[in-house]
Amino acid sequence: MQELNFTRRQFLNATTSAAVAAAIPKPVFASTSISTLTAKPGVAQLVPPDYPETHIWSYEGTVPGPTIIVQQNARVTRKFVNQLPQESSIHWHGIRIENSMDGAADVTQPPVPANGGEFMYDFTVPDAGTYFYHPHVQTWEQMGRGLYGALIVREPTPPLVDADDVLLIDDWRLTNEAQIHESFGAPHDASHDGRIGNWITTNGLFDVELKAKRNERRRLRLINAANARIFELGLEGMDGWIVAIDGQPLPVPQKFKGTITLAPGQRVDIFTDMTAEAGHVVSFERDAGYAIASYKIEDSHRDNPLPPPEPLPANPVASPANLVNARKVELVMEGGAMSGMSGALMDGEYSDARTLARNGKFWSMNGSVDKPQEPFITASLGETVQIGLVNNTRFPHSMHLHGHHVWVLDENLYPGMLRDTVLVDAGERLELALVCDNPGDWLFHCHMLEHSPSGMLTWFRVV
Ligand code: C2O
Ligand code: CU
Repeated sequence: MQELNFTRRQFLNATTSAAVAAAIPKPVFASTSISTLTAKPGVAQLVPPDYPETHIWSYEGTVPGPTIIVQQNARVTRKFVNQLPQESSIHWHGIRIENSMDGAADVTQPPVPANGGEFMYDFTVPDAGTYFYHPHVQTWEQMGRGLYGALIVREPTPPLVDADDVLLIDDWRLTNEAQIHESFGAPHDASHDGRIGNWITTNGLFDVELKAKRNERRRLRLINAANARIFELGLEGMDGWIVAIDGQPLPVPQKFKGTITLAPGQRVDIFTDMTAEAGHVVSFERDAGYAIASYKIEDSHRDNPLPPPEPLPANPVASPANLVNARKVELVMEGGAMSGMSGALMDGEYSDARTLARNGKFWSMNGSVDKPQEPFITASLGETVQIGLVNNTRFPHSMHLHGHHVWVLDENLYPGMLRDTVLVDAGERLELALVCDNPGDWLFHCHMLEHSPSGMLTWFRVV
């Protein structure tokens, strides 16, 4: 964590270990049946207790907001009450949702007014898996202040696991007084790698330690709720299988080896077997020694670990039709620092890079900054479209599409992973297959939250 200026080490030097130990653990998987979700200012102890509480924005007063747990195909109804001093909305990230409930302000609904505005969200969840919800107005600031919560959709027949842990990871930019750094919208962040923070929490806590039993199998649901930080995560002292990505089950669980990359907006479900002897502490880590969550192994749950897991049942996501006949589109991403982008369309008019920068615009897709007047494709319902996603910038981007999941094609153009958020590296080209089976206007944007308002956002239409 050397890059941080508000480091864990500073805290550890400044606090007694008793104070550090006192901050753990809180229940990680608390269910809720509330029917209102109120966004409002609050406080949270994000840092060790002898530092001040942080003034945050929250759903229902906590960071993260309440975990919503429902069965597959259930109906979800929540009255959203906006007690923030800003307009807001709720986007149900990764849910193949009915368009009017998508929460994309100014696209699928008007923003919900500040200081008491309300909106009724009412939708069904077609896919089991790990999802989350967050605002879709001024998202870089509202998520950066703590507005997000997990949305867990349970399989009709629960898989064989002994515990189910939701781990929402965030990266905060805090001042030395542990307050939210007010540098939202800083041009340097927008034109580089986004608002990278200096303090990492899991479920709003800086040090999550849970109790576990030897040879217990736990389902870890990891969600990257950070504005811009890409996490590279590994297992220490436990075995694991990746069973689902962005909510969608892998056809065959993949033995966990090395590390997994989790970009902003992405999720992964891992089954872990707690194989270490009693008395050991095992962890899910970022850098060696930095635990996202650790588990203290107490006694033994069973003599041997369970056999390798069965795949989770597939969700009803359409497979792409024969790609030979599919319509092909290219989406070319340009701009950002050190890119040499000469200019782009802004509000339908060509502007040079200097003018764009003066307006806080640094990124373009197919030569336009911001939501262009025309969608990049108008697809007929059920049509398969092949998207060539070309990253001609010097930065990786975590591209999220609304209302659908896309198949990431392998080098032979066979459908591989199914995702709603795709990390495309600097200079990389990806081929995606999108089955357009959800009618409406849908956003496709970078989930590095400073990049979308500075240009990296487009949309498609399904009719
Ligand atoms: Cu999770 Cu359009 O965002
Ligand atoms: Cu980006």
